[in-house]
Amino acid sequence: MTTTLITGANKGLGFETARRLLAAGHTVWVGSRDADRGRAAAERLGARFVLLDVTDDASVAAAVRTVEAAGGLDVLVNNAGIEARKPDNGVVTAAEVTGEEMRTMFETNVFGLVRVTHAFLPLLRRSTDPVVVNVSSGLASVSRLADPAAPAYGYPGVAYPASKAAVNVVTVQYAKAFPEMRINAVEPGFTATDLNGRTGTQTVEEGVEIIVRMAQVERDGPTGGYFDAAGPLPW
Ligand SMILES: NC(=O)c1ccc[n+]([C@@H]2O[C@H](COP(=O)([O-])OP(=O)(O)OC[C@H]3O[C@@H](n4cnc5c(N)ncnc54)[C@H](OP(=O)(O)O)[C@@H]3O)[C@@H](O)[C@H]2O)c1
Repeated sequence: MTTTLITGANKGLGFETARRLLAAGHTVWVGSRDADRGRAAAERLGARFVLLDVTDDASVAAAVRTVEAAGGLDVLVNNAGIEARKPDNGVVTAAEVTGEEMRTMFETNVFGLVRVTHAFLPLLRRSTDPVVVNVSSGLASVSRLADPAAPAYGYPGVAYPASKAAVNVVTVQYAKAFPEMRINAVEPGFTATDLNGRTGTQTVEEGVEIIVRMAQVERDGPTGGYFDAAGPLPW
């Protein structure tokens, strides 16, 4: 039996990933920073709930104890993430972004991912088939951001793509350090969720395709890669 923890699984891509992995037979922990929303989501899914704020050491440590006491962990899906939007849902541009906004973005998307991964490493190392999926973004691709022919070129934000590019670097470095694990970064595609004011052009069902696939990656499957549903992406 495979046990999987998904951070930020009370809604959006995390929630749908939980639904799909439950259907695939995983025991799923719905991580949520809010107890009421998390419990409600877990109940709806028939999953387990664990309180987990990725920006809080004590919360993450308590989540490790809960998951460990219930038998351990095989798959970690680092899904929790934020994107700064203005009240009109516009992206915070290069001229507008402050150091503090950059710090807030990195606190969740990068430091949070490292905090959670580091804390769950001992459990993952005890698994016979450990897997980590880092939910990145197409906007993490530096080559696409710099290519006038790529749609990503037109994205005016700084903090979000920078944080997701850092997620990609973290993924590569972890994958090299832990060859016994499959550790990959994935790009769900532009998906209608609260993150973007539901302006995304894909459904969550479409968006989770690559997350679900990489959560079930075989032992001889890829590690240290960056993928969307169609295959490997340029860094
Ligand atoms: N939607 C897209 O087009 C798209 C494209 C590429 C990548 N992604 C990535 O996909 C992931 C999921 O995003 P989504 O689109 O599903 O957005 P979403 O619906 O806004 O979900 C984000 C989830 O992250 C949680 N979260 C935020 N900060 C957290 C924290 N400090 N601790 C724990 N959980 C926290 C949120 O919890 P609350 O409900 O408590 O806020 C929510 O459950 C993110 O990493 C995002 O960057 C999304």
